[in-house]
Amino acid sequence: MDYSKQLIEKFHNKTARVAVMGMGYVGLPFATVFAEAGFTVTGVDPVKDKMDRVNRGESYIMDVPAEKVAGLVKKGKLKGTTDYSVLANIDAVAICVPTPLRQTGDPDLSFIVSAAEGLAPYVHAGMVVVLESSTYPGTTRELMLPILTEKSHLKVGEELFVAFSPERVDPGRTDWTTKNTPKVIGGMTEKCTEVAAAWYGQALDTVVPVSSTEVAEMAKLLENTFRMINIGFVNELALMCDRLGVDVWEVIDAAATKPFGFMKFQPGPGLGGHCIPIDPLYLSWKLRSLNYTARFIELASEINTSMPRFAVTRVQDALNDHEKALKGSNVLVLGAAYKPDIDDLRESPSIDVIRLLQQKGAKVSYHDPYIPHIKQDSWEISSVTDLMAAVKAADCVVIVTNHKVYDYVTILKEAKLIVDTRNALGKLGFKNPKVVRL
Ligand SMILES: NC(=O)c1ccc[n+]([C@@H]2O[C@H](COP(=O)([O-])OP(=O)(O)OC[C@H]3O[C@@H](n4cnc5c(N)ncnc54)[C@H](O)[C@@H]3O)[C@@H](O)[C@H]2O)c1
Repeated sequence: MDYSKQLIEKFHNKTARVAVMGMGYVGLPFATVFAEAGFTVTGVDPVKDKMDRVNRGESYIMDVPAEKVAGLVKKGKLKGTTDYSVLANIDAVAICVPTPLRQTGDPDLSFIVSAAEGLAPYVHAGMVVVLESSTYPGTTRELMLPILTEKSHLKVGEELFVAFSPERVDPGRTDWTTKNTPKVIGGMTEKCTEVAAAWYGQALDTVVPVSSTEVAEMAKLLENTFRMINIGFVNELALMCDRLGVDVWEVIDAAATKPFGFMKFQPGPGLGGHCIPIDPLYLSWKLRSLNYTARFIELASEINTSMPRFAVTRVQDALNDHEKALKGSNVLVLGAAYKPDIDDLRESPSIDVIRLLQQKGAKVSYHDPYIPHIKQDSWEISSVTDLMAAVKAADCVVIVTNHKVYDYVTILKEAKLIVDTRNALGKLGFKNPKVVRL
């Protein structure tokens, strides 16, 4: 039996049954795109609340409108379950589980392992499995494949098709989405790439096949490491400009007028999110096991992780210039999400900024329209409810996340002092005696 031909046919006539394991920031948008393309999609996630919400036609991801989920659920194109046994009747599985770091800074692959172990009893001839989670080169072949084939003994590239395709979704972005962002895909064998590309090609605008899972894995790490290193460099530029007494934002804007050979990156209070601060460390970890030190990554990581402390020093100096000590001052942090206009707090530098300010004795409050509450271990804090009253009461307002909904003109008018770590005020903040720019 030619399983690849059979599968490709099912993709072309949209009769292939699709499952998405891991229905989070990546998985839910992915599932809706494939359901909209005409496939019947089942989300599989151990978090019952999420699956109940999908089945009720609700959305818990800002980028996915609830009406879209409701419409697809109503048409029978999308459902959620916590029961892995549904995978027995599935033709195509995408795995979108988290890949965080352990406390030690090493990769935590336990979610990939648990998803693969959950899937393993149900893998069957004529199935394609694509790993979407960002990870180091070799994960699909060395870690996931053995779990899928240990008991099934299926022949890869003939009976079972396995590939890696890095997810590039940028939450909050509307121009480039899951559907229209080109999708790199690399299979364990040529047939695996062909089958997986045939599947993705039915729902995504552009599929970019590459020759192996390792190339696809490494391409994702190149993209994110490129960003992380350039942000590290521009953060160091901010440190250098501080010593030189030069406004870093003006320097960057001036350099960015060059129409070629320059790409604009912006400094800030530190890296955040589930990807940029973490993925490069997967690469450096893997390289350490091969006796190689990824020097650019280590240096950029060191600079990036020092930025929250630098931002706090700016607050301390700014208050000092206003004849106030940080200790005992009311400091309002504006924005907690790791980037503008989203509700994602993961790895956000705002947490470090708030904690460092508290450690130095400041009375800290924060406001974020999308994050009403922050809870970390035994520590928690709630967003202030009356933003303008808090702005007026603060000795210093620190803009950590430049959400678009903020009325910066009024905030500037009402605040006594602002430390703007994101250039949220733009020209309003330039040479303004009330404003210190990072
Ligand atoms: N969020 C992003 O912007 C983004 C962008 C590109 C790539 N990625 C990568 O995509 C992957 C997923 O990230 P995310 O942001 O969607 O994470 P997430 O935490 O939002 O979602 C992951 C989901 O997987 C579920 N899960 C955990 N173990 C499972 C298992 N054994 N079986 C089935 N489901 C399981 C969790 O309950 C959760 O709902 C990560 O590797 C991440 O680095 C994320």
